[in-house]
Amino acid sequence: MKLFIDTGSVAETEEIAAWGVLSGATTNPSLLAKEHGDPGDIIRRICELVDGPVSAEVVSSEPEGMVEEGKALASLHEHVVVKVPFSRAGLAATRELTTHGHRVNMTLVFSASQALLAAEAGATYVSCFMGRLDDISIGSAEVLAEIVAALRAGGPESQVLAASLRHPMHAVVAAKLGCEVATAPGKVLRQMLDHPLTEAGIERFGADWRARPEFGAWLEGLVRSGKVPVS
Ligand code: G3P
Repeated sequence: MKLFIDTGSVAETEEIAAWGVLSGATTNPSLLAKEHGDPGDIIRRICELVDGPVSAEVVSSEPEGMVEEGKALASLHEHVVVKVPFSRAGLAATRELTTHGHRVNMTLVFSASQALLAAEAGATYVSCFMGRLDDISIGSAEVLAEIVAALRAGGPESQVLAASLRHPMHAVVAAKLGCEVATAPGKVLRQMLDHPLTEAGIERFGADWRARPEFGAWLEGLVRSGKVPVS
């Protein structure tokens, strides 16, 4: 499963892209509205940082407006994927955009039947919001499992993108269910790093090594001897 960052923040993307784990990013109007600066500049910079698909969302409610906005957003950078909210208008816009070669991430999909429609309209990604389902006491894992099964049963090839991740277990569940992508906010990606045994293990290895100072000198020498001389 590929990991995307769900953000509107260039600084956060820069921080986490440096870990080498990001394959793409998703933005949405709410995330971008929290940031200072030109949204186009932000989207372009995030595209450069993740060097992969970056979803940028349309806000019109009519198909024509969605298509116009989608084409304009796609012109910002070759990595932009047009994010279109699920609706009748969204399906029509998705068909039109994909017919003209644009990739679409159909968002706000909360059921397998909606996912089937999104896939038939040509969406490259079908985004299901796990956290928002759990918020209203609908089990996100069950819904996601149905979506994955429905889209794998045949027909057009759409990737299932798990979104609205609120904690690391959402990412693990999405991976186990066979989602192709999970997009997580910076906070959740940082939480995925932590384990007390990892920290304790690093501390123990360091302390044992430092107890033999001659080993430190040996390693330094090894590093120096392996360095290609600067000509
Ligand atoms: O990008 C869409 C989605 O991930 C939003 O998450 O936390 O606002 O439900 P959330």
